[in-house]
This record gives sequence, structure tokens and C-alpha cells, in this order.
Amino acid sequence: MLKVAVFNFKGGTGKSTTTINLGTALATSKRQVLLIDLDGQRTASFGLGMDGKSPTTLDWLADKKSVTPLATQVKHLSLIPGDIGMFRLTAKDDLFTPALSKLTGFDVCLMDCPPSLGVASVQAILASSRVLIPTLCEPAALKGLSEAVELIRGERADISIDVLRVRYKPRLVLTKEADDLLIEAAADLNYRLLHTTIPENIAVAESIAQQKSVIEYASKSSGARAYQSLAKECLKLWK
Ligand SMILES: Nc1ncnc2c1ncn2[C@@H]1O[C@H](COP(=O)(O)OP(=O)(O)OP(=O)(O)O)[C@@H](O)[C@H]1O
Ligand SMILES: [Mg+2]
Repeated sequence: MLKVAVFNFKGGTGKSTTTINLGTALATSKRQVLLIDLDGQRTASFGLGMDGKSPTTLDWLADKKSVTPLATQVKHLSLIPGDIGMFRLTAKDDLFTPALSKLTGFDVCLMDCPPSLGVASVQAILASSRVLIPTLCEPAALKGLSEAVELIRGERADISIDVLRVRYKPRLVLTKEADDLLIEAAADLNYRLLHTTIPENIAVAESIAQQKSVIEYASKSSGARAYQSLAKECLKLWK
């Protein structure tokens, strides 16, 4: 199982949205996909209509009982829902590697991290083979991106880092400026800037409120098409 931590130090950069929609796009490409909601805010669980269901991520990590991920409405897509009590998670030892090794039958696991480098994010990153960092494409957001990459490299010098531009507005001069900075920083900070960009698209925001992926909510929208292209790019890159 390929383990991917979806992380950014900064809040509101499309981590949960990307987890739901990339996960759905991969599942519609017939991969067996597992999403794990590590954030006490539980946006990914809510966006799939599964907030409040159990067993939760805390049950899974506490290993009190054997945990079977829940099937979602999307074929081939399963979820371990988030838990409001995640802030209580403390650990000296690695909880994630043994807990992940018990989850069998999946090709890909996407872990939606909270916007902080607490226990859940650090341990998810340490147990992953890749980190996916969604970022807004504005010069002001790039400071957060550099900090995130440096923090991750501090924990795992060798890990592959992919950067995804979300809420992308190609016509803005600001976007062009940020693009240039991102390309320059990719070489310095040793990350891959993904070719696919996710446009600013109201259907993406609406789909969360409708508790569906954008692919189910508005399959022809620019957001749905972008997440499908992203899945194709990731499948090529991650194999
Ligand atoms: N492509 C898009 N077009 C329009 N709105 C978007 C898009 N992607 C995300 N959003 C909106 O941006 C907001 C933040 O997205 P999201 O919750 O996925 O970010 P996050 O990084 O998970 O946030 P947090 O750090 O709080 O966990 C949400 O309101 C979401 O609907
Ligand atoms: Mg989130």
C-alpha cells in the first residue's frame, strides 16, 4: 500500500478537499483507496457524509479493537473517519507504522493531516512514502510552503514531496509571479511541482456542503476534470 500524507503547515490550503477528490478519482480508476481523516475538524469525513461514524481514527490508533475501514458511497473508496478527540493524541512511540500495517487490501492510502505539525502529522509523515502538499498559488502562501517543506525535510530528509497548486487562477499576474517562485524553489527545496493545477471552481466548494466529491456532484465541472487529471498524473508518478 502506497502511503501518502496530505499536509501543509498552513490552514485552508485544500488538504481535505484534495484528499476527498483525489481519493475518489483514484477509486474511479479502480484502485482500492483508503482515506484516513487525522484532523479533529473532520472536514474529509463530513465531505463524504460520514462524520460521526465509528470506528474513528482514534479507535484505530488506540488499537482497542480491530478496525475495519468503512465503505463510502464511492466504489473502491473506504474511510477511517476523524475524531474530535484527536487533540488528546500523545505518543512517544510510533503508533502509525504498526496500525497501517494491519490495514490490508488497499493500493493507496491518503492521510488528511491537520494544519499543524502535531503528533498526528509528524507520525503520518514519518510512516509515509510521499507527502502531497496542496498550496494556494499566491506569493504570500509560498512562505508557508517553504516552511512546510523544511519541517518535513527535518523529519525525513529523503521523502518525496509533491506540490499541488489549488484554487488556481491562471489569468492573474499574482499567479504568474507565484508560479515563477514555485518553479525556482522546486530545485532549491527539492520538491516536484505537479503539472496538474486545480482551478478555483465553485462546484468544488459546493460539493463539500453537499457531502459528495466534486466528481459525483458535478462530473463535468472544471474541478472534477482537474482532479481526474491529477489522479492520472499521480498514478504515473507514484508507480
Ligand atoms: N478548487 C477550489 N475551488 C473553490 N474552493 C475551494 C477549492 N478547493 C478548496 N476550496 C475551499 O477552500 C476552503 C478550504 O479547503 P479545505 O478545507 O480543503 O482546506 P484544508 O487545507 O483542509 O483546511 P484546514 O487546514 O482547516 O484543514 C474550503 O471552504 C473549500 O471548499
Ligand atoms: Mg482540512
